This record gives sequence, C-alpha cells and structure tokens, in this order.
Amino acid sequence: MKNIALVGFMGTGKTVVAEELAKRLKMNFVDLDDLIERKEGKKINQIFAEKGEPYFRQVEKEIVKEVSCQKAQVIACGGGVVLDEGNVQNLKRNGIMICLSARPEIILERTKGYIHRPLLNVEDPKRKIEELLRFRAPFYAKADYTIDTSVLTIEKVVEKIIDIFNEEVRQ
Ligand code: S3P
Repeated sequence: MKNIALVGFMGTGKTVVAEELAKRLKMNFVDLDDLIERKEGKKINQIFAEKGEPYFRQVEKEIVKEVSCQKAQVIACGGGVVLDEGNVQNLKRNGIMICLSARPEIILERTKGYIHRPLLNVEDPKRKIEELLRFRAPFYAKADYTIDTSVLTIEKVVEKIIDIFNEEVRQ
C-alpha cells in the first residue's frame, strides 16, 4: 500500500490530520520532526540553536530517505521538507504527496503562542510567514494535490484525503 506524505507550511494541520488519517485508514503514523528529535536526542529548537538549520536539513534528509523505503504510512513532514528536491523524489517514490495550505492570517493564529518552531520565533512572525510562503510557493506546488485547510475541520480534510487516496489506489 502506498504512503501518504503530508507537506505544507507550519500550522496547516499536517500532524493532527496525519494522525487521524492513519487511524481511519489503519496505516502507520509517522512524524518526521519526532523522528529527528529522537535521533538527535534534542528538540528541534535546540538543534537549530546549537547546530544550525543546514545540519537540521541534513538530518531531515536522512530520515526522509529511511522513512520513504517503508510502505502504508501516513507521514507528517516538516514544513521545509519540500525545499530539497531529493526529499520530494523520495517521498513520491512510494506514495502520494498532499500539500495542506492555509491563509497567512490563519497560520499566524494557529502558530502564535507556541515556541517550538524556531523559524517563527522572530519579532514579526506575520511578516516572516508571508516571506516564507512567497519563497516556498513553487516548492509546495510540487505536491500531487493541495487542500486549503483555512476553513475546514480536521474531519473534512481527512475525508478529502481519503477520497483522493481511494482514487489513486484504484488507478
Ligand atoms: C520547519 C517546520 C517545522 C520543523 C522545523 C522547520 C519549516 O515543522 O520541521 O521547525 O522549515 O517550515 P512543522 O511544519 O511540523 O511545524
């Protein structure tokens, strides 16, 4: 059975949707950030602070390679996974890639109050979100499907993905 890789910006709902989706489809739930933290024995914030973003991306790439070899998994990816073409190729090899999106103001609302995302721990997170979204748009466009989660419930997003998945499996 194919994997489902959920990509998209921080705060678009990848982790909660992936967890629910995995339950509904009786597939394995995998969160790449969790695996990175476990491998390094450190929180993402700490990895960024002590070793820098390039090191984090290197570990992320190794984890993507390992996870992509397995099947029947719902994979919640970190928001920057798509910046590396090798990651995109690996994640698509055994699965479909679905991008969750949301409007910048919704992303701000959903992410404010949390400090575990180093890229948004800045003075003007709204501006940072807009900048990153602009820069990353062509990378997120590499996904096979995109679902705007701005006004959807988790349940609704899960149903849409199940429909897509059933179509893909039938092909
Ligand atoms: C990142 C997103 C985070 C995490 C890291 C970098 C990004 O994951 O991988 O902080 O570059 O967008 P979430 O999208 O799960 O928050």
